[in-house]
Amino acid sequence: MEIRKLFIGESPPLHLLLLADPSREMVEEYLEKGTCFVAERDRQILGVYVLMQKGPDMMEIKNIAVDENHHRKGIGRQLIGHAVGYARDQGSELLEIGTGNSSIGQLALYQKCGFRIVGVDVDFFTNHYSEAIFENGIQCQDRIRLSRRIR
Ligand code: ACO
Repeated sequence: MEIRKLFIGESPPLHLLLLADPSREMVEEYLEKGTCFVAERDRQILGVYVLMQKGPDMMEIKNIAVDENHHRKGIGRQLIGHAVGYARDQGSELLEIGTGNSSIGQLALYQKCGFRIVGVDVDFFTNHYSEAIFENGIQCQDRIRLSRRIR
């Protein structure tokens, strides 16, 4: 599997990006401001992530998603490993990622990849999304912010 930047003029895999964030508006904003990487095997896009500069020595993974038929095969972990390497090469010291309070699997993955919880934006999702989001029988209300030192 190859992880690479989107080619110039190549369409981003919106169907995957929308798995991670139901707001098309937010997704378009990340794509405009950040850099989009895709995981490709046999000319099929299996995963995606978008990385954004947040400060002189800090980057953030704004969106990460893997094709639903390929979950739990280690692709998410490989995408995060790639983001760590890329952000480090760009001179970043910290890599951040955020997710909802109801995203239990995502919180497990990020902590297994070395991220620590550094903050909670209370009511972020209730304030920024028009539709209520439920996962694992829990309402997604708060954004959990996680961070990893990468050098
Ligand atoms: N439940 C519990 N643990 C999990 C889960 C889960 N649903 N998913 C991953 N993990 C943990 C496990 O320990 C797993 O290892 P194991 O399978 O050996 O037990 C480890 O993380 C590595 O998992 P991967 O196989 O690398 O993860 P995957 O390729 O399935 O991708 C992802 C994870 C990207 C979260 C995927 O489930 C997905 O696309 N979900 C929908 C979109 C989404 O929610 N994206 C994140 C939103 S937040 C943001 O974008 C910043």
